[in-house]
Amino acid sequence: MADVFEKIAQIKEEIKGHVVSNSEELEQFRIKYLGTKNILKGVFAAIKDVPNEQKKEFGQKVNDLKSVAQTKFDELKGEFTGSAKAEKDEVDLTLPVDVNRPGGRHPITIIRDEIVDIMSRIGYSVAEGPEIEDDWHNFTALAMPDNHPARDMQDTFYVQTNPDILLRTHTSNVQIRVMENQEPPIRIIAPGRTYRNETISARAHCIFHQVELLYIDKGVSFADLKQTLLYLSKELFGPDTKIRLRPSYFPFTEPSAELDVSCFICNQEGCAICKKTGWVEIGGAGMVDPAVMEACNIDPEVYSGFAFGMGLERIAMLKWQINDIRLFSENDIRFLQQFEGL
Ligand code: DAH
Repeated sequence: MADVFEKIAQIKEEIKGHVVSNSEELEQFRIKYLGTKNILKGVFAAIKDVPNEQKKEFGQKVNDLKSVAQTKFDELKGEFTGSAKAEKDEVDLTLPVDVNRPGGRHPITIIRDEIVDIMSRIGYSVAEGPEIEDDWHNFTALAMPDNHPARDMQDTFYVQTNPDILLRTHTSNVQIRVMENQEPPIRIIAPGRTYRNETISARAHCIFHQVELLYIDKGVSFADLKQTLLYLSKELFGPDTKIRLRPSYFPFTEPSAELDVSCFICNQEGCAICKKTGWVEIGGAGMVDPAVMEACNIDPEVYSGFAFGMGLERIAMLKWQINDIRLFSENDIRFLQQFEGL
């Protein structure tokens, strides 16, 4: 009987050392050890020749062999399907490379940084002020007292029901805050977000950005203003840029002017952007009104200065020929990705 037990031990070793490398071999293993005509059945048939006192042990050994075969099958199957899964998950080298995009600056940020950089080269430093502002800094100190008609032009958002607290309608509030807190000479650039209760369209938005310049010192003249604006325009739009100042009106400057730059799209030949005039308007400027300086406790008999303000969306729209201001705040990735790397 020793050889039947030996046979069992031998089959057990065989099963334990079995390897399969594909689903076909796995199936062969199943048929051989677990199928309806598996070899264990043949082994078990020998029970009739086993002496009675060994039948129990024999039966246990065969059962053990069955479970070893089943365990091995489960193991092989797991391994095999596991590796099949791994094969499926393997990197597909034929796929186009997914470039890891680092992202980019928003077009308004690009313009803002450029202007800040240009002005910092001639000694201007950045100043900031609050977006939620009081009436004094946004209007009254800028020579726009209550009932001044210029207030109507700046459709103001008031915060809650307090008519004294509002969302600033321009960055000119920073002029006031700086003059109140700083002795001349003052040379600041104030970029920031501004708000007006405008109906949103391709041309107008209730949220936009401005940059404000302010220079106060002894003996600052209109010639200084003009030269500063020429420098800024050339740096921003190219060395051939010409400027033109048209008389205008702002309550907080006297005299006041509107700044036009020669159309850099058509080189003054006449195009849709400049409406065939050869010039595009980019901002407002003027000599700081003595009343404004007085409101900030700066003596207009000793000091003089100029201010300038412009809209950043307008500059970006001109520079990149963007025809809808709403694109700047919609965060459409297809729009923003066009400025990556700039
Ligand atoms: N604050 C003006 C506006 O929002 C723009 C402006 C005009 C600013 C003339 C200035 C300036 O500093 O001198 O319409």
